[in-house]
Order: sequence, then structure tokens, then C-alpha cells
Amino acid sequence: MTERRESIHGSWSGRLAFVLAATGSAVGLGNIWKFPYIAGENGGGAFVLVYLACIAVIGIPIMMAEVMLGRRGRQSPINTMRSLAKEAGASPAWRWLGWAGVLAGFLILSYYSVIAGWALAYVFRAAAGTFTGATAEGIASIFEQLTGDPERLLAWHTLFMVMTMIVVARGVRGGLEQAVRWLVPALFVLLIMLDGYALASGAFDQGLEFLFTPDFSRISANGVLIAMGHAFFTLSLGMGAIMVYGSYLPERASIARSSITIALLDTLVALLAGMAIFPIVFANGLEPGSGAGLIFQTLPIAFGHMPGGALFGTLFFLLLVFAAWTSAISLIEPAVAWLVENKGMTRVCASVYAGIATWGFGLLSIFSFNAWADFKPLSFIPIFENYTIFKLLDYLTANIMLPLGGLFIALFSAWVMKRSDSVQELDMGDGAGYVVWHLLVCYVTPVAVLVVFLNVTGIVNFARLFGLGE
Ligand code: TRP
Repeated sequence: MTERRESIHGSWSGRLAFVLAATGSAVGLGNIWKFPYIAGENGGGAFVLVYLACIAVIGIPIMMAEVMLGRRGRQSPINTMRSLAKEAGASPAWRWLGWAGVLAGFLILSYYSVIAGWALAYVFRAAAGTFTGATAEGIASIFEQLTGDPERLLAWHTLFMVMTMIVVARGVRGGLEQAVRWLVPALFVLLIMLDGYALASGAFDQGLEFLFTPDFSRISANGVLIAMGHAFFTLSLGMGAIMVYGSYLPERASIARSSITIALLDTLVALLAGMAIFPIVFANGLEPGSGAGLIFQTLPIAFGHMPGGALFGTLFFLLLVFAAWTSAISLIEPAVAWLVENKGMTRVCASVYAGIATWGFGLLSIFSFNAWADFKPLSFIPIFENYTIFKLLDYLTANIMLPLGGLFIALFSAWVMKRSDSVQELDMGDGAGYVVWHLLVCYVTPVAVLVVFLNVTGIVNFARLFGLGE
């Protein structure tokens, strides 16, 4: 059996801190901003069902695999993969998995920060009472004014990136851990309140029906890929974020229990958000498939009409910013950890470099909403006909890079790593729990990812193969 290592970056104070940090990473814009709008664009119920299935059979096992690899390697994902491959007598090329993750994190954060900037802007709009009594059209025009102005977007994006780099620079305990302790619980309380408002808004049944009544004629093969991609995105999987958090996890904490808790909390937040948003969408005659602006065009209506709406609206967007913040730090942590390990930089210096690069790349997303809104680089491919650079970046990372990253993480843990090592690290004995996990990462996850990929690219039409509709 091989030796265990220690991390040079420090460690979490305990299992609870890890669960909170990983939940902070998982719960973010993905749950509250992205999930409702892509569920709306992809027909609702059937999409939600596929997403839930992917969380259970792909998400949880891959999360366990990532935490396990991280804790075993105790370094940035690049160096972790290199050491673990060496230990297992496999090719050093596995370190490229770490590099792909660093790239994915960089690309995601570049647009994530722009959207988080919208949330920041909305904190101030809500606090100023801008939404009070406003109509759906009024709210829509507030949104268009913001996204149509590159200078404003740049200012908020810059502020968000600075906030992110400050926490990352402060390190594992001082920065990351402090930030999540109270934010995650507070977010739950506010979401439940919003659900209360949605319940009273008159269209709660219609909202629930849209979310929970699957109609498979409304989801395409591409919709299935988007649902699977989102399972990775929302759990922060496939790029090393959870791996690097796992590398700060103390020895004795249970990986299986932690992963299940994190996945359940994350799913709960997404469903609570969907249940708050769709009733408001239907009660106001809005379009569920209206795209990336969905929550910014619906929730302010609720805040504009409920008692104390200015206060609750401010709190809500503030919490959304915090949720995005605790996610953003995990997107850049693998790169920062690597710069510290391999380039001998201090954390502060590493954060500044990584932050500036990401910030600059974010300009592409900013212009996608205004100056370049009509620039659709891949419009010759049917599914990308209406995709701006921002949407392409999101598609490429969430639906291609993360599932591929996850696939290789599963393959490595199942086929390359020694069984005795994964048994030791997962620390749940060699009984039923381990066997189920092993089966899932050995076969189920890789096959599922491949099937969805092949189906979308049209190489094999599985739907037709099984006699189902388009
Ligand atoms: N999971 C976060 C969200 O839902 C986003 C995120 C943070 C992420 N770290 C990640 C996505 C790593 C993919 C990979 O908002």
C-alpha cells in the first residue's frame, strides 16, 4: 500500500468545514440562475428528471472519486494526477487531465464573473427601490439597460473578480472557510421565503406542473446533454475544483457521506429556486424559455409587489452574490495551487496573476450581450445558430469539457488506481457501498457519458435505436 501525503496549502478544520466549502462551491449561479433558465428552454419536467437522474448515478460517484483522488494526492489537480499516475505505474500524461481542468475553470470563471456582476448590480437596484411597483416590461427594460452597457458590466465584473481574488489570496482557512459558514444557511431561508411568495402568486400549480411533469416529447438529444452537463456544472465536477478541496480534507472524514450531503443540499437549492421562479413566470405571462435573463426578469417582479420587497430583494441578490463568490473561488483554486507549487509564488501573487488573466478573458462575455450580440461564430452548425461567444463558452465548458473531465476521472479511479488504494482512501470497507460505487465509476458513468455524446453528435441515434421519438 502506498504512502499518504500532506498538503503544503493547509487543511480544513474538519469534515463540516469541507462539506460547507464544497457546498459553497456547488451552490451558486448554477442553481439559481442557470438551472431555471435551461430547464425553461428545454421544456421543463423531462429535463428536470434527466438532470436528477444524472446527479444520482453520475454526479455522486464522480464527486466521491474526485474527493478521493484529491485527498490521496494532496496537491493541485495537475500534480495530484501526475503523482497518482506514477504511483499506479500509469502514463504521466494523466497530468493533462489536471491541465484541462485548469483551462475549464478559467473559461467558466471568465463568464461566471460577468453574471455574478449582474447580481451585484441588482443588489443596488433592489436597495434603491427600483423594482417597487414596476411592471414586467419595466423590469425587462431595467435588465436590458444593464446588459446593453459594456462599461457597467465591466465595472461589476471587475468588482466581482477583485472580491474573488481577495478570498483566494487569504487561503484555505482564513479565506475559503470563513466565507461559507453562514452564507449557505442564510440562502436557504431566503429561498424558502420566496417560495412562500410564489405559493401566493396564483400560478404555483402551473409552475410545479411545468417543473415536475415530464413530457419527453419536449426534450431533444441536445437537451439531454445539457441536463447531464448541468449535473457536472452544478456539483462543480469534472475540472478539479472538488479534487483540490478534497486535497485539504482531513484523513478521517467520510467521503461517501460528505458527497451525498453536498449533492442533496445542492439539488434542494436548485429545486427551491425553480419552484420560486416558474410560478412568477406564469403568473405574469412571461416566457419560460426566455434565456439567461430569466431570474433577473422574474424575481424583481415578486420583490416589487410584496411587502418589504426592497429589503428582501436586497438580501436575496446579496446572497446570490455570496453564493457565486463561494463558487468562483473554487474555479480558480486549482490554478492558484499549481502556481504556488510549481512556480514558487506566494498565494497572493498567484491569485493576482490568475485573476487578471480571467478578468481579461471575461471581456468576450461582456461584449456578447451588447456590441457583439449579433456575432454568432458557429452559426453554420444548427444547434449553435443563435449562440453568442458567451453561450458557446458556456456550452463548451459545461456540456463538453466537464463531462469529458468526469469521464477520465471515473476511468482513472476505476481502472488505473489500485483497488486497495481506493478502498483505503474511501474508507468504507470493501462491502456493498464500495462495490456499488466501483460499478458506477467502472461502467455506468463512462457508458452514460459516451452514449449522450454519441447521440448528440448524431453518430448513433440511440433514441431511434430504442424506438423512441426524436
Ligand atoms: N457549481 C457552481 C454553480 O453551480 C459553479 C462552479 C464552481 C463550478 N466550481 C465549479 C462548475 C467547477 C464547474 C466546475 O454555480
